[in-house]
Amino acid sequence: MTARLYWVGNAAKARVMAEVLADARSAYRVFDYGAGRGGDWPEILSAHPAIDLVCYEPDPESDRDLRSRMAGTRARILSEAEFQAASIEADYIVSFSVLEHVFDKPAYMRDARRHLAPTGVFHLNYDDGHFRTSLDLDELRGWRTGLAVTAQNRLAWLWPRLNRVDRYQARVPAAEIMRLVDEAGFAIASDRYDNLGSFKSLAKTVPADQAQEFMRFWLATEDELNKRFRITAEPRMGDDVNLWREMASRTLALRHA
Ligand SMILES: C[S@@+](CC[C@H](N)C(=O)[O-])C[C@H]1O[C@@H](n2cnc3c(N)ncnc32)[C@H](O)[C@@H]1O
Repeated sequence: MTARLYWVGNAAKARVMAEVLADARSAYRVFDYGAGRGGDWPEILSAHPAIDLVCYEPDPESDRDLRSRMAGTRARILSEAEFQAASIEADYIVSFSVLEHVFDKPAYMRDARRHLAPTGVFHLNYDDGHFRTSLDLDELRGWRTGLAVTAQNRLAWLWPRLNRVDRYQARVPAAEIMRLVDEAGFAIASDRYDNLGSFKSLAKTVPADQAQEFMRFWLATEDELNKRFRITAEPRMGDDVNLWREMASRTLALRHA
């Protein structure tokens, strides 16, 4: 039987979760670092009794939503004090679309390292979609979003000065993440690009009863692109890999160095 995919509509998250859920151990711990509202976790926890889930979400509003969505599940949601305390020894850390919102990135990396078990894997995913905008003269309806994104990107530096780090977002250039990985004491086990723009748009048009089939086709296509057609090119948008131009999501699998 083919395993069910979660986070359909986002190939990067669906692929990482497929890998985590394929773990055959009878019990293992997953830490969702910057969990937001918790995505598909309630459904996953019902279907996968082996998972011991720990979440942390620093934004008070999202933390409230997360707690209410996870109420009645076995997930443990860390308070700020619990997050700052000793290691939770996670077998997997997943952190989806978080890094580009983090103001103090070295601290974020240090904390990830502290919470990762000695043999654990940290799936560090970051996204560039927020920073890409095209203002199409023939598609005026899209302008509002385009202008808002542009303003948000340009004003990124302002939010921390106004004590609003929660509004911060900034593009993460590949060289910066490589430096952070190194300084935090991680080694890269794998590195890939996901979320081909046209597939992401198409996914929104696919009926629910075909969503799983579509996701499998999407993941297989991106596997081939990463394996066979990844090429070093002229740097653009902070990265010199050709796939980055069309696939705005990158995921590093990190282990203790
Ligand atoms: C775009 S949301 C992604 C949420 C969730 N991971 C998802 O995929 O739906 C970015 C999240 O990063 C969180 N965040 C920002 N800075 C963080 C930090 N230093 N440590 C952990 N999470 C952080 C935000 O509060 C927000 O929930």
